Amino acid sequence: MKIQFSPLTLPTDGNALFLMAKGAPLSKLAQQLDAQTQGALSRALEVEEFSASKDALIHIVAPSGCELKRVLILGVESGSDLDVQQAADTLVKHIEALRLTELNVITEEPAQAAHFAYGLQLSHYRFDKYRTQPQQQAKYQLESVTFSSASPQVAQDMYQPLDAIVEGVKVTRDLIWEPANVVYPESYAQFCECLTEHGLEVEVVNSQTMAELGMGALLGVGQGSARESLMVILKYSGSDASQAPVAFLGKGVTFDSGGLSLKPNASMNTMKEDMGGAATVTGLMVTLAKRQAKVNAIGVLGLVENMPSDKAQRPSDVVTSMSGQTIEVMNTDAEGRLVLCDLMTYTQRNFKPQAMFDLATLTGAVLIALGEEIAGVFSNNDALVEQLTTAGEVEQEPVWRLPMGGQFDRLLNSDIADMRNNGNKLRIGGASVAAQFLARFVENDTPWVHIDIAGTAWTSEGLPNKPKGATGYGVRLLDRLVKEQFEK
Ligand code: BES
Ligand code: MN
Ligand code: ZN
Repeated sequence: MKIQFSPLTLPTDGNALFLMAKGAPLSKLAQQLDAQTQGALSRALEVEEFSASKDALIHIVAPSGCELKRVLILGVESGSDLDVQQAADTLVKHIEALRLTELNVITEEPAQAAHFAYGLQLSHYRFDKYRTQPQQQAKYQLESVTFSSASPQVAQDMYQPLDAIVEGVKVTRDLIWEPANVVYPESYAQFCECLTEHGLEVEVVNSQTMAELGMGALLGVGQGSARESLMVILKYSGSDASQAPVAFLGKGVTFDSGGLSLKPNASMNTMKEDMGGAATVTGLMVTLAKRQAKVNAIGVLGLVENMPSDKAQRPSDVVTSMSGQTIEVMNTDAEGRLVLCDLMTYTQRNFKPQAMFDLATLTGAVLIALGEEIAGVFSNNDALVEQLTTAGEVEQEPVWRLPMGGQFDRLLNSDIADMRNNGNKLRIGGASVAAQFLARFVENDTPWVHIDIAGTAWTSEGLPNKPKGATGYGVRLLDRLVKEQFEK
């Protein structure tokens, strides 16, 4: 979609859209058009009892007195940034019926122009790559949208960092949508190598090197797969070298069959999304680079495929993690934590981060507890949780803190090794037990936050600015956190 910002003028042809907040009168240009069309706008508002709610859209076809094809009026409720963004969903739902391919959005406030453009980009997303039949593809798509406002320059400047988020979210969604026969560790790493074009440094660490580093927990997960396990390091330097980086770790299980603790079909067939943590970190790093954030950030991705085979690890195998701690693998389907624990050790020892966030589609339990809209967070740092919670409220990517503690930690005691990888009492407190496992790998009280996105990475029905499918949840959230707390 081509986005342009232009000065405030009434378009003479094509489709014109006016944004209207609750209680606001028609804008000056809308009034001008209303006069020109013998009151077509004001009469339509009256007849439709227009409420300015976010799902209210009026369309007037070929009004006389002008050459416009259509005049549209869209409610934006309070007119806040978020309401304006979300109103874009309504327009996107009508694109097919209205056969819209180009549009002129007229709004006085540059902020509304920028945020409506942002909302449109987020909502107007489809993953049609594998549809070969024209009737299954979108017939009409917005190709070009012009936003006229009081100051195109201000609108453009406000839009620039939002466009960086759009790019990051698209990267995340595309990676998650792709099936596991297309996105597997090697192809994922190849994709990452192209990210140098955005100004990221990219390093791919192969299995042999990981073995030398002692990453036995991560490697155990991938050992049943024909695909080689890889670790990818994405580095973005936007601040001086003396600044310790913020680290983002992502679970990148490109497919989670469960391994020998095989999943039943109904829960296995969504498991291409199990690299959602890695995809979120990848998208976030793209966003930070694209908007040239003043921060040093490291993304660390653990890319593995969890498969059963004669080479696969067995329930009851004992592996040694990079930290030196031994783990009895009692359930090969509790594999995400085995990947993350080695990433944590590697990251802390190599980068000494000022804070460490891990993102993972880690437990079914968090989906059961919090649903598809709220991610579960676990942390050793109250301030970070508070900051993250605020960022989540602002960006409508909410998080909810869940408990940690000795009662969960005890469930990880093993009869043979330093710990087991699942709780020894069937499924109780599953999300907290997983977090407690990770906590055992935090060194020197590094401020650490674990974000379990098993519920939020995918939406079964669609959410505001998140069409059905891969959501890109977490990119907006963490970009906001970086901006508010880590940029200097
Ligand atoms: N990848 C799954 C978690 C998951 C479930 C993600 C649903 C997205 C949607 C994870 O590896 C897993 O299988 N977890 C097990 C842990 C259990 C065996 C201790 C679970 O949640 O059942
Ligand atoms: Mn699993
Ligand atoms: Zn998994």
